[in-house]
Amino acid sequence: VNNDNHHHSRTAPLDISSERFRALGHRLIDEIADFLGSLHTRPVTPAESPAQVRAAFDAARPLPEDGTDPQALLNRAASLLFDHSLFNGHPRFYGYITAGPAPIGILADLLAAAVNPNTGAWKLSPLATEIEAQTIRWLAQFIGYYPASCGGLLVSGGNMANLTGFLAARAAAHPAVRKQGVAGAPDSPRLCLYASPETHTWLHKAADLTGLGTDAIHWVPSLDLNELEARYRQDKSDGFQPFLVVGSAGTVSTGAVDPLPALAAFSKRHHLWFHVDGAYGAFAVAAPGTPEELKGLQLADSIAVDPHKWLYAPLEAGCALVRDPASLTAAFSYHPPYYNFSQDDIINYYDIGPQNSRGFRALKVWLALQHAGASGYRKMIQDDIALARRLYHLAAAHPQLEALTHNLSITTLRYVPADLRPTLGIQSTEDYLNDLNQHLLAAIEESGEAFISNAVLPGGKYALRACIVNFRTSAADIEALSHLIVRLGRQVDAGLRRQTAPALAAE
Ligand SMILES: Cc1ncc(COP(=O)(O)O)c(C=O)c1O
Repeated sequence: VNNDNHHHSRTAPLDISSERFRALGHRLIDEIADFLGSLHTRPVTPAESPAQVRAAFDAARPLPEDGTDPQALLNRAASLLFDHSLFNGHPRFYGYITAGPAPIGILADLLAAAVNPNTGAWKLSPLATEIEAQTIRWLAQFIGYYPASCGGLLVSGGNMANLTGFLAARAAAHPAVRKQGVAGAPDSPRLCLYASPETHTWLHKAADLTGLGTDAIHWVPSLDLNELEARYRQDKSDGFQPFLVVGSAGTVSTGAVDPLPALAAFSKRHHLWFHVDGAYGAFAVAAPGTPEELKGLQLADSIAVDPHKWLYAPLEAGCALVRDPASLTAAFSYHPPYYNFSQDDIINYYDIGPQNSRGFRALKVWLALQHAGASGYRKMIQDDIALARRLYHLAAAHPQLEALTHNLSITTLRYVPADLRPTLGIQSTEDYLNDLNQHLLAAIEESGEAFISNAVLPGGKYALRACIVNFRTSAADIEALSHLIVRLGRQVDAGLRRQTAPALAAE
C-alpha cells in the first residue's frame, strides 16, 4: 500500500479548488454583467493603433516561466478586453455582418466548456451529440428546409459551412476524386461551376482548397438564366463537366437575394448540385415580408447558414445543411481502426464533416433558440430589417445624403455635399465623392460613436454600408447614425477640399 498522499490527490499547477473556482467565477460574472450593462455608454471602438494595442498588454513579453495567481490574471484580462476592444454587441455597431452575442450564448459557452464534451463521436458526447442533432433539425425547420429528413452539422462559420456544401457537391459529381485527386486519372472530368461575381470570397477559397482552382468558377453576372444556359452549352461543348450552381440568399455587400427559384430549376434541369450561401440571409426567409425569392433556398441540395450572424450566437457557429444526409458521409467518411464508434442509429460527427475532435457549439444555439423562440427570432429579424429601411428613408429624405440600396438589413448610402448634387454622375465629382466617403468612413470609426463598413457598388461607387444584425439597436441609434454621418461628412468635406480639391473649395 502506498501511503504517499500524492497517490490519492495530486496538486497540479492548473487545478483550482471548487471553492476558489466559485469565487473567481462569481467575480468574473459580476464584471461581465457590469460590462454588458455599460456597453451603450462606451465607445464602439477605441480605434487604437497596433502600437497602442501592443503597448497596453506588453505584447513583447516572453513566455512566463512561473505561474501567476488566477484572480490577478482574470482581473487583468477582463479590464484589458473591456478597454481595448471593438464591441460588436454595442447598439451602434453596424459593421460587416457580425452580431453581438446573445447573453444566454455567453453563459452557454461557459457551461459547454465546463463539461467539455467531444462532439466528434456519439460515445464521447451522448447528450451533446443529440442536442446538436436537434439544433440542426430546428435550424432546418426555422427556414423550412426538409425538417424531417435533412442532415447537417455545426462548423466554425459561413466559410466552413459553404466549403462543406462544396465538398459534398464535388464528391457527388465525381466520387473517385476522394481517392484519385482532381487530376488523378486520365479521364478525370474538368469540373466547373456557376456563381455570380457578388458571391462571398469563401467560393475562391473553396475552389482553391479543393484543388479545382478558381478558374473552375465560371462567373455569370447577376445569374441571368439565358446567360447561364448559354454558358452551360458552351462549357459542355468545350469538354467541361459543370457540377454546381451557387446562389446567395443575401449577398455580403448589399444583401441582394439571387433568383434562387430559377437557379433551382436550372440546376434540376441539368442535374447540377444547387448550393445556397445563406450565411447572411437564410434566416430571413422565416420573417414575414421578406423577398419571395428567398424561398428558393428550400430547393437547395445544400445550404450554409450562420448562427453567429442573424441568430446572434457568440462566435463561432456556422452550420452546413444538406438535403440528403448520406451526401456528407459520401464526402467525408473514413473508418480508422483506432476508433470504436460504430453503433446503430446514431451520428458520429467526425464521420460527416472535416473536423475530428469538436466542441459543443450547439449548446449556445440550442439555448438561444429556446430563449427567444422562433417567434422571438422572427421579430428580431423583422425589427433589424425595419431599422435598415428606416436608415434608407432617412438618407433619402436628407439633402446631404444619397440613399443607394436597401436589401434585408443592409442599407448603403453616401454623403453628398449639397453643392455637388447637381453634378452627380460627372466623373470628377464621382471621384471626389469616393474619396470623401472613404475618409468619412475612417472618421466615423475614429469617433467611436458608431462603426459601419463599406461597399463598392457597380460602377465603382464607394458607399457607406450599415448592416443591422443587432438586437440592441433602436430607432434612436439609427437616427443618431444619420446625424453622425452628416456632421462628420461636413467636417471631412471641408478638410478635404482645402487639402486636395481647392477648385471645389470655392463654395
Ligand atoms: C454571404 C456570406 N457568405 C459567407 C460569409 C462568411 O462567413 P464567416 O465569416 O462566418 O466565415 C459571409 C460573411 O460575412 C457572408 O456574408
